[in-house]
Amino acid sequence: MCGIVGYIGHKQASDIVLNGLEALEYRGYDSAGLVFFDQQNRPELIKQTGRVKNLLPLLDQVNRANQLAIGHTRWATHGLPTSNNAHPHTNNDQTIFVVHNGIIENYLQLKSLLTNQGYTFNSETDSEVIPMLIDYYYKKLKNFDNGLRAALADLKGTYALAIINSQQPDTIYATRLSSPLVIGVGQDEHYLASDPNAILEHTKKVIFLEDYDLAIISKNKIEINNLSKKRRRKIKSELLDYDQEKSELGNYPNFMLKEIFQAPTTIKEACVGRLLADQGLVKLGGLEMVNSQLNYIDRIVIVGCGTSYYAGLVGEYLIEELANIPVEVQLASEFKYRKEPFSRSTVILAISQSGETADTMAALEKVDGYGCLKLGLVNAVGSSIARMTDAGVYCHAGPEKAVASTKAFISQVTILILIALYLSKGNNQDYQALINEIVNLPTKAQAVLDQAANIKKVALKYKDYANFLYIGRGYNYPCALEGALKLKEITYIHAEGYAAGEIKHGPLALIDKSFPTLAIAVNSSPLLNKTISNIEEIKTRGGPIIALATMGNKKLARIVDDVIYLPDALGPTQAILSAICLQLFAYYIAEAKGLNIDQPRNLAKSVTVE
Ligand code: M6R
Repeated sequence: MCGIVGYIGHKQASDIVLNGLEALEYRGYDSAGLVFFDQQNRPELIKQTGRVKNLLPLLDQVNRANQLAIGHTRWATHGLPTSNNAHPHTNNDQTIFVVHNGIIENYLQLKSLLTNQGYTFNSETDSEVIPMLIDYYYKKLKNFDNGLRAALADLKGTYALAIINSQQPDTIYATRLSSPLVIGVGQDEHYLASDPNAILEHTKKVIFLEDYDLAIISKNKIEINNLSKKRRRKIKSELLDYDQEKSELGNYPNFMLKEIFQAPTTIKEACVGRLLADQGLVKLGGLEMVNSQLNYIDRIVIVGCGTSYYAGLVGEYLIEELANIPVEVQLASEFKYRKEPFSRSTVILAISQSGETADTMAALEKVDGYGCLKLGLVNAVGSSIARMTDAGVYCHAGPEKAVASTKAFISQVTILILIALYLSKGNNQDYQALINEIVNLPTKAQAVLDQAANIKKVALKYKDYANFLYIGRGYNYPCALEGALKLKEITYIHAEGYAAGEIKHGPLALIDKSFPTLAIAVNSSPLLNKTISNIEEIKTRGGPIIALATMGNKKLARIVDDVIYLPDALGPTQAILSAICLQLFAYYIAEAKGLNIDQPRNLAKSVTVE
């Protein structure tokens, strides 16, 4: 999704900004742009649809001697992905330039006020009102700083902003509200980015901006005022202790296939130093530090979006079954607006691969006043959610670049098993069996991957259907939801996930010979026979059926049209094997359709707006 990079110092700023924008590319965007002042203090504004590298030929046509630049990658929210709508945006005099992440909710109102004042708009974006509004107040108050503050006070919504103006060609203004922004500190130079990964190769010394901070950044000085607290803020820099996460394709045609095939390693990495199988111990350092609070919890609310939400649903079954603690899983986008009782004895657990999902961050912000423990299950080290939570567990799955999340789900579910075991304190009859099972899980995951050719054969047989129903029970119900999401995301085929027991309450009406069902019917489910009855109900109505079954189950092969066999495994670990299989199934259909698998249409990797 949108990304911001800025630089001021003694190096060629446009090149640094360009590199930074490239580091953010995998997050998904549809256009890019940057602006700098040339040696005569004239602005060079360059923007283009498509890849960041499309800016290069335009940059080659101008004098690149510049020591201050701001740039942006845009993921369209208001207005089509066109070069006019791309950032930076500017005022009518082209003296103020702004890049913006987030959404200005009252932009229509502001646009109409400014239009009445004679301003002309060139884009369909919400963001363009910002430079116009700053211009309006600047002219009125005759002081840029005051004009900017007045403009910010009028904005409703969320933003991370980098702003430059031709009167102060040696200054970048930066501010944020519910959207991340970090300043990188160098030797007589400063960087700015919406994600530290964009600047990590230059500096690890950073200052994270807080809501309502307004930073005035020059080569060798930073001043931060908090506009809400109405005072200058003490600047506290911190040293990031991780490197830029790099991921190369190797021999894979795309990142999604690579990331699916990383499943065995992902499971191992999630367990390193945490699963001490021979001692029957699960050690989660991140949770140990809040043990005293964990001893008094009576409820866990898990929040997340998309795939992370589905992982949370597996977690609900797990924690309730193993640790006997009531769990509720909520979509972060719903949770943040719900009015519900919430007490100090409830723990909130936010699950997120990117650690930057706006809805999940807002869910955490919502509980700020309740004094409850905030935990995170996050993949991206140092991300906003990792910093907003009191404690947590990192996935350590490495960078996930494909928009469709695959290895993150595998990692999240593996860690949720560890969390459930940890919270159970060993008081569960399945405790040791599950620990032993996790030790074998990478081998079983590899066994699923070894069947890729067979999964592909089945996928190709079904690639032209327009609709799919995915069904499962227990741990495999969230897997059915996740499998359907994968199919939708990368093949654009309509798919719905359902609890198998629910189909007779409505979805059965859809079934005919043109509407196939993918049924997860594995031996580990105590309700296998009931799922088989559901399969029979579909069969009777002429619906084609693919079953995910446990190796050796001959009975299912006689009922359904196609079977994909999975290794036998215990309940929650079985869900991981099913998920890998469903990821491959969706992948091979998308491949056969010749689609852009890593960057499906309309989607972004990191969803930083509501
Ligand atoms: O980074 P997060 O895990 O917070 O992202 C949540 C969702 O946006 C994400 O899982 C999305 O649904 C993926 N595209 C699913 O493949």
